[in-house]
Amino acid sequence: MKRELITTNDGSCTLFVPEIEEHYHSVKGACTESQHIFIKQGLKASTASTPRVLEIGFGTGLNALLTLIEAEKEEKLVHYTSLELYPLNWELIEQLDYPHLKLTTDSEAENTRIPAEQLIEEWFEQLHQAPWNEPIAITKRFSLHKVHTDITLWINQNGDERFDVVYFDAFSPEKQPELWTPEIFGALYAMMKNEGILVTYCAKGVVRRSLQNAGFNVERLPGPPNGKREILRATRL
Ligand SMILES: C[S@@+](CC[C@H](N)C(=O)[O-])C[C@H]1O[C@@H](n2cnc3c(N)ncnc32)[C@H](O)[C@@H]1O
Repeated sequence: MKRELITTNDGSCTLFVPEIEEHYHSVKGACTESQHIFIKQGLKASTASTPRVLEIGFGTGLNALLTLIEAEKEEKLVHYTSLELYPLNWELIEQLDYPHLKLTTDSEAENTRIPAEQLIEEWFEQLHQAPWNEPIAITKRFSLHKVHTDITLWINQNGDERFDVVYFDAFSPEKQPELWTPEIFGALYAMMKNEGILVTYCAKGVVRRSLQNAGFNVERLPGPPNGKREILRATRL
C-alpha cells in the first residue's frame, strides 16, 4: 500500500493511505492527538504503578515514543506490547521527524524532565529497529514487544498476559469494521486487569455500545485541543 507524508495542523507529520483514504493520525494535529488521548487520558489516568500497555496498531511508533518519554520522565516501568499487521519501513518513518517534535506538558516542572533530543532520536530508531515477535528492553524502564500479527488472530492466541492500558488505535470503523466489534472488545476485556482502561479516538455511538456490550464502563471525554469533540475511555471495573 502506498503512503504519503503530510503535515498536520500542529506542525507534526502523519501518513495518508490513498487506497483506503485514511490517515494514521488526526489531520488537526498528530502529536496533539496522541498526547491527549493515549498519554493523558490513557497512560497517565491508569492506577497501575508499572503499567502493561497494549497498542492496537504500532504504525509510525508515535504512541510508543511518547509512552517511552513519559516512562523516563516519570521514572516508571512500562511494558509495551504493540500489534501491527503492516510494518512500515525505516526510510519512510525517518521522514516523520518525530524525535524533533516540540513536546510540551501540563506544567513547567514536567517540561524540565523531558529527556534530551539526542536520546529521543536514539530511542525512536531503536523502537523501529527492534525485532518483531521478541520482547526487548529499550531502556531500563521501557520494554517493548512488537508483534507482527493480525489482531483478529492474535486475540485467540495471546496466553495469559494481562494489560492495564489498551491504546485502541486501528483505522476507522468505516474502513475496518471487523476490528471494532463486540467480539474484539470482549476479547480485550478478558485480557485486561481490573481497573484496566481502553482509550480510543472514536466516540461513535456504535463503538460505545459495542464496548458497553463487552462489559466496559464507558465515558465520553473531551477530545484533543483543536481536534475531535469527544473521545472514549472504557474501564474494566
Ligand atoms: C490509525 S493507524 C495508527 C498507528 C499508530 N498507533 C501510530 O501512532 O502511528 C492504524 C494501524 O493499525 C494497523 N493495522 C491495520 N489492521 C490491522 C490488523 N488487522 N491487525 C493489526 N494491526 C492492524 C495499520 O497498519 C496501522 O499501522
